[in-house]
Amino acid sequence: MNEITRSLRGNSNAARDIAAHLHPYTNLKKHESEGPLTIVRGKGVYVTDDDGKEYIEGLAGLWSAALGFDNERLARVAYEQMRQLPFYHSFNHRSHEPAINLAEKLLAMAPVPMSKVFFANSGSEANDTVVKMVWYMNNALGRPAKKKIISRIKGYHGVTVAAASLTGLPANHRSFDLPIANILHTSCPHHYRFAQDGETEEQFATRCAEELEQLILKEGPDTVAAMFCEPVLGAGGVIVPPRTYYAKIQAVLKKYDVLFVADEVICGFGRTGNVWGCQTLGIEPDILSCAKALSASFLPISAVMVNERVYQALKTESDKIGTFGHGFTYSGHPVAAAVALETQKIYDEMDLFGHARRMSEPFQRHLKALADHPLVGEAMGVGMVGAVELVGDKKTKAVIEPVTSAGATVAKHALERGLIVRNMGDRIAICPPLIIQPAEIDELFSRLRAALDAGAEELRAAGKFGG
Ligand SMILES: Cc1ncc(COP(=O)(O)O)c(C=O)c1O
Repeated sequence: MNEITRSLRGNSNAARDIAAHLHPYTNLKKHESEGPLTIVRGKGVYVTDDDGKEYIEGLAGLWSAALGFDNERLARVAYEQMRQLPFYHSFNHRSHEPAINLAEKLLAMAPVPMSKVFFANSGSEANDTVVKMVWYMNNALGRPAKKKIISRIKGYHGVTVAAASLTGLPANHRSFDLPIANILHTSCPHHYRFAQDGETEEQFATRCAEELEQLILKEGPDTVAAMFCEPVLGAGGVIVPPRTYYAKIQAVLKKYDVLFVADEVICGFGRTGNVWGCQTLGIEPDILSCAKALSASFLPISAVMVNERVYQALKTESDKIGTFGHGFTYSGHPVAAAVALETQKIYDEMDLFGHARRMSEPFQRHLKALADHPLVGEAMGVGMVGAVELVGDKKTKAVIEPVTSAGATVAKHALERGLIVRNMGDRIAICPPLIIQPAEIDELFSRLRAALDAGAEELRAAGKFGG
């Protein structure tokens, strides 16, 4: 039995999981024979499975557990808030202090002046909310045709119907009958994969902006409302757009009065070396969505910030109709909001964003050093997030067939060595909790290099890799 295949017999966690639990983002058939990796507890950057084996969580769960996997203060705040006011909603002019406090805090942190904060429970809900706000806004402004929304190939914005449509990954569309109408995908700003021969980063960025402009002109500027961008593309493979890209993209969007929506669900709260990815990448958004590290992932909560222009339009339309007819039972849930606010206090008190910036140096040094590994075609990252792309031939950038087999092999060897990373196809992502310390960064990369060595060995033995 390998590391992943736990006992599937009797009343084990694995057997019960297979019998009862339908998993997200999982090959459901394979799951019946392989079973789950069941995590039972966490401490710092480590999590422990039900066999007692400890792992460095090299992806902070899902790019999200900035404080790692234990925190007494957050547990206490949740308990106290549950005792005082376990639930209240914010529909129909109702409110509560945790939501008010958190909204104020987010406005004070925003990368550009923002007017109001809307709360939801997940990144997907936040992004679906933005799509509806943009449509609502353009109805308010008397531009009913200006409704199309652009996102990018390999962009990730979630899985609800509109968010999954924005996501530019085939697995989120295939067999789900997506994308919905009026969603357009423009080029992916990944220089390593998509630049033409001899094209510099700047030239490539110019071409991406020209392609965006052509798309807007082809569709008609009067029909294009907004563009969604993750500052750094996460689930599409950790892609840091090239220098000058966002300046050029934003110039095009401004020219045609197309809103810039920054999806900061991964990048927000220190991940890229600043509070926001927008600051690292030079973006001035009209709307910003965030989630994940908002509450260090201790409880589900997400937020959408809108600027004054967007807010005024929403206000006008809601007054005309009688209500802004959108919201979730748990929008700004008091326990989640209290935990998120305390999370932000903890970040401030421990200067977590400063710590993350300081840790970026050893993190990026280790990451870039992996570029010399025979399996690695590209090592790319910024701040405390990065990825390596595995290739069969560094010169030609040829993939190892079948696609994803190299990524899955290395991720498996990492797991065996007590390191959880995620392979997105043949890119291995690393995005540890921001509290990580220098010795833990050393250990993470030492395990990853060992996994790359073992992966290369296995692929060579199978005749798939000659490097
Ligand atoms: C950039 C980005 N946007 C949106 C989402 C969707 O968030 P959720 O899974 O909370 O719906 C994710 C999730 O990973 C994400 O990375």
